[in-house]
Amino acid sequence: MIAWQEPLVDGVYVLAILVFILGLRAMSSPATARRGILQAGVAMLIAILVTFVEPGLSNFALIALGIGIGGLAGWYWARVVQMTAMPQMVAVFNGMGGGAAGAIAAVELLGNLGDRSISGLALAGGVIGAVSIAGSVIAFLKLQGWLRSKPIVFPGQQPVNMAVLAIGLGFGVYALASLEALWLLPFFVLMLLFGLLLALPIGGADMPVIISLFNALTGIAVALDGFALVSGPLGDAGYAMVIAGTLVGAAGSLLTLLMARAMNRSIGSVLFGAFGATEESGVAIQGAMKPIDVDDAASLLAYAGTVVIAPGYGMAVAQAQQKVKELTDLLEAKGVSVKFAIHPVAGRMPGHMNVLLAEAGISYDKLFDRDEINPEFPATDVVLVIGANDVVNPAARRAGSPLQGMPILDVDGAHQVIVIKRGQGKGFAGVENDLFYKENTRMLYGDAQQVVGKLVQSLKKLE
Ligand code: TAP
Repeated sequence: MIAWQEPLVDGVYVLAILVFILGLRAMSSPATARRGILQAGVAMLIAILVTFVEPGLSNFALIALGIGIGGLAGWYWARVVQMTAMPQMVAVFNGMGGGAAGAIAAVELLGNLGDRSISGLALAGGVIGAVSIAGSVIAFLKLQGWLRSKPIVFPGQQPVNMAVLAIGLGFGVYALASLEALWLLPFFVLMLLFGLLLALPIGGADMPVIISLFNALTGIAVALDGFALVSGPLGDAGYAMVIAGTLVGAAGSLLTLLMARAMNRSIGSVLFGAFGATEESGVAIQGAMKPIDVDDAASLLAYAGTVVIAPGYGMAVAQAQQKVKELTDLLEAKGVSVKFAIHPVAGRMPGHMNVLLAEAGISYDKLFDRDEINPEFPATDVVLVIGANDVVNPAARRAGSPLQGMPILDVDGAHQVIVIKRGQGKGFAGVENDLFYKENTRMLYGDAQQVVGKLVQSLKKLE
């Protein structure tokens, strides 16, 4: 490298990494998350641009074409995607990252098969990258509803999966030992197959955890590729990949653990447990669903001392958050204390409810997570459930239920519960909800945006 370029490129990479870390830091709070995302994006742009100064680079037209196509497609999808389809998009983008890491590993392997220090790392990057892209494809298909979201299981599934993994790894190791690149082909094919097989038995309810896990794996694959690149002509770019990949791997792993803990699941049981594969049988729920009309519900809310709102996926689908803000303001003007109970997996992506409520201007200090709010339910006059189902389903406390063990919002402990939903639809996990049949629960049927709008009108009449 020409003398002046080396310190420039190194310095800019260090700068990009610092900005990236600061961006990640800012993402830890909803108040600064937007800034964090922007910072991380700018850091990535800087890292990409400075790579062009590296002398080892050729094929500029192809690179520009790739960046152009990828950039335009990403920009377009991110603009048109519905908030509720965000998990699918994350799965796709994440899969692309895994695929890119796998492709870099393949190139490194083909060029450096004889160099053990490079080829060993590239092989590991190839395994993780291939598993990540194939698994993410299944996650996308399930979340999009193009593949049955329930666990897809067959007899002897785990031994078959392990055999595919072992034989695939065997081909990879043999390619390194024999220096015959041809064996890399069955290696990659079997790793892709293993990724597909791994994700098939994972049920819809576990999908958030698994997407986060694939995200972490993609980061690790990128870091491994970076290690392999460091000894090549583009060494500096390798360092940037090691650091960015490690950060993504670490952040993704922590998020995976946090989400698994929020659902009271171990990573092992998420991967191998086929959660939700079996239906609960022989359980007859006592009682009947009791409807309530808008005016009666509005009166209950208006004359309550304390109201807790538990939002879920239905609020997101209905885009009811602005109406919910109006309702909150009206109730507070009447002297009612209003809090929000936020379950970590309510909706379809981490932080889904926080983002929607923040968008509507509801202040963060009204939002309480499960551990904070659960002890308050017995002293709460009215809980208003808006389009939430699984996260408030007391069946999770019953042995044998497919939801057993998932920590929920204990809304059934409140004096009165009003549930807004359109009809008899089940939640994401497909389990009947005991809450709707309880003595102190009333059902307020309709689209969440329309019903909350009517509640607002009714409350205004009460003034
Ligand atoms: P869900 O269990 O999905 O239930 C949503 C309820 O909203 C449904 O029962 C539906 O009943 C109702 N609904 C749908 N559209 C509506 C509308 N326009 N107006 C009013 N109600 C409407 O929601 P949840 O309680 O938020 O639980 C989330 C589930 O998704 C969990 O099982 C979780 O594991 C899973 N999941 C979460 C994530 C993340 S990271 N948050 C990602 C993927 C999956 P009707 O059809 O009768 O209206």
